[in-house]
Amino acid sequence: DWVMKDYITEAVARIREQVGDEEVILGLSGGVDSSVAAALIHRAIGDQLTCVFVDHGLLRQNEGQLVMDMFVGRLHAKVIHIDASDQFLGQLTGESDPEQKRKIIGREFVEVFQAEAKKLSNAKWLAQGTIYPDVVESGGTASKKATIKSHHNVGGLPKTLGLKLLEPLRELFKDEVRELGVALGLPPEMVYRHPFPGPGLGVRILGEVKREYADLLRRADAIFIEELRNTRDTASGKTWYELTSQAFVVFLPVKSVGVMGDGRTYDYVVALRAVQTSDFMTADWAELPYSLLKKVSGRIINEVRGINRVAYDVSSKPPATIEWE
Ligand code: XMP
Repeated sequence: DWVMKDYITEAVARIREQVGDEEVILGLSGGVDSSVAAALIHRAIGDQLTCVFVDHGLLRQNEGQLVMDMFVGRLHAKVIHIDASDQFLGQLTGESDPEQKRKIIGREFVEVFQAEAKKLSNAKWLAQGTIYPDVVESGGTASKKATIKSHHNVGGLPKTLGLKLLEPLRELFKDEVRELGVALGLPPEMVYRHPFPGPGLGVRILGEVKREYADLLRRADAIFIEELRNTRDTASGKTWYELTSQAFVVFLPVKSVGVMGDGRTYDYVVALRAVQTSDFMTADWAELPYSLLKKVSGRIINEVRGINRVAYDVSSKPPATIEWE
């Protein structure tokens, strides 16, 4: 619509004026905020923007491909795709404490991003997808946000990069960011995605993180999300993906006995988690249809060798949290 078109025109002009002919780097995570920020800044300054996409090995299935197809394939943006999974998984070996795992992932992210930023010696600006609620939450300054959330959010980069901050979404609420994303040509499926935590599958694999676990979890999770997207509630006409605020699979590092054909199996257990919430501070477990749960569990057990049991999490927040770690 015209309001959004005017907004884009204005925002583009503001970014051009701010940045001039200098170079900008941005940490692209595939999440809504960084994606919309990247699309907007790219619209304004094209190749003066370089996005850095760090794959920590704990992303969802095909995430890297999706991000590259979108930003390089369709928008023709400059994106440096770093596969740092060996480094991250190596550093996580032997660690099973949830907060320590978050710290390690956050620390490695900063290290990898910083090393890349150093190579782009012409960059004078660091762009971030900070939105209005982030600014408010931290009492008004972005630098404070970085310290409050550094343990929590992989995006918290230190000031030591010595770059000027470019935060074009600072005045927008989440729904406005989404509208802006669509107006900039990002696909609605990307812009209306459920939130995904910075530490990714790292906090959805209980205890020690192993590549084998991440691989199994990714496949199970992709099946769950696919079925949620493909199943409509007849009353509302909406998909179950739309009717839930967040949904994912959790990997439990325990084995249970099963039977397949004439044989006994002894394989891993996963839990499905799906919640409905307006603010993520409290949340109800979603009353998914039994037929949907049945289909998802059947597919996971049949298609993902190594998992032989699926449970559904019926805990609300509080006292349970949305994530299991
Ligand atoms: P909980 O599990 O605390 O989660 O009920 C509330 C919301 O926050 C997300 N979450 C995180 N996001 N880094 C993030 O970027 C984290 O370490 C983290 N931990 C939880 C969670 O996915 C949910 O949306």
